[in-house]
Amino acid sequence: MSKKAELKVGDKSYDLPIIEGTENEQGIDIAKLRGESGLITLDPGFKNTGSTKSAITFLDGEKGILRYRGYAIEDLAENSTFIEVSYLLIYGELPTPEQLTKFENEIKFHTLVHEDIKTILEGFPSNSHPMGVLSSLVTSLTAFYPESLDPNRSADKVNLSIIRILAKMPTFAAWAYKNEVGHPVNYPDNNLNYCSNFLKMMFALPAEDYEVDPVIANALDKLLILHADHEQNCSTSTVRIVGSSQASLYASISAGINALWGPLHGGANSAVINMLENIQKDGGDTKKWMAKAKDKDDPFRLMGFGHRVYKNFDPRAKIIKKAADDVLQKLGVNDPILDIAKGLEEVALNDDYFVERKLYPNVDFYSGIIYRALGIPVDMFTVMFALGRLPGWIAQWKEMRENHEPIGRPRQIYTGQGERKYVSVNDR
Ligand code: ACO
Repeated sequence: MSKKAELKVGDKSYDLPIIEGTENEQGIDIAKLRGESGLITLDPGFKNTGSTKSAITFLDGEKGILRYRGYAIEDLAENSTFIEVSYLLIYGELPTPEQLTKFENEIKFHTLVHEDIKTILEGFPSNSHPMGVLSSLVTSLTAFYPESLDPNRSADKVNLSIIRILAKMPTFAAWAYKNEVGHPVNYPDNNLNYCSNFLKMMFALPAEDYEVDPVIANALDKLLILHADHEQNCSTSTVRIVGSSQASLYASISAGINALWGPLHGGANSAVINMLENIQKDGGDTKKWMAKAKDKDDPFRLMGFGHRVYKNFDPRAKIIKKAADDVLQKLGVNDPILDIAKGLEEVALNDDYFVERKLYPNVDFYSGIIYRALGIPVDMFTVMFALGRLPGWIAQWKEMRENHEPIGRPRQIYTGQGERKYVSVNDR
């Protein structure tokens, strides 16, 4: 017999079905509650609200588990590639060798962007933040491929939009950087793999030879895998909710990029480096900055600490901390900021304030340190996150559309004025 919850309000009671997931997670289905009782549920920030059933990513914040389509993040980060993980997230299974080759070739075929997109790029002032440029260029694809606006197009055509955005995003990301520094853009090199092509477009200069360092390309590939999906976070929920109005894939992804930009989400990786640099300039006294983070009258928060769902440890942070050590050693970089980060982590892990609130380093506490070692400038960190999260956004958008989910539209409790009569301006 299926489980039920009983809700009592005054002398009335309501039976609410309990929905169970594969990993025995349970949720009370309140979809019919309003119709039966007039009641809504209130949960600002959706801290305890499930918005969908999803078969893509499983995470257990208490146990520190993260799996894409059933595969552990540790296994994928160690053994897979970003392109293979993208296929897995989007289509649900790991590809056969033939499927993988076909997928890689399809992506390579579409890396070039319409030449007129350069005109759009040139309209942005130099110094424009690359996240704003990236989201604009992604939306501009709706103009170059207007058929993508049709919500009823065939699955093959939807798939073409998916391939196009996967292929063109590294080009846009590298071009957003080139615009920021005022350099001419590079065109894609389809002899290279996904990350190497991106690095070449980003760093090659007209008068110099550029050889991609495999240590850098591999480290970037691993970082992208770690960021590839994270179930219903702020940007992914944004992608799903925008897509639920039947807006195009490109418009939905562009909205996700903007949601990711904020310092409480994807912008945290830049904020961490800015914070560590400030601590370094200030003499490196980690205890002083810890005290600031705990002071409720001080707006300062320890960036890269805390997570909405991980209340024990972030499994990605474990992998990335080790990767930071490896990459810095392989590249021969000695970054004093890494020592400050480790010092802060040690103090925080033993501090009552952080322990009681279950605040641990998240994935972005160490990702910025690796990006810095790879020569990627701070403004581009969140763009790198967007590049990594892209297959997750696509998979979630596709799942939402294939399941014919209804338009996202939360309710509210109104706390404003009661009805009042309009008074004309001269009588006020
Ligand atoms: N530094 C100091 N105190 C903190 C921090 C922090 N980084 N994070 C949370 N707290 C405190 C809050 O002040 C609050 O204290 P209180 O109970 O005394 O009021 C308590 O811990 C709970 O914090 P909330 O903000 O309610 O937790 P929430 O789940 O809403 O927020 C968030 C999670 C946004 C990630 C938060 O921990 C934070 O701002 N962290 C810093 C930014 C960051 O690193 N973001 C990246 C997230 S990971 C990602 O997007 C990939």
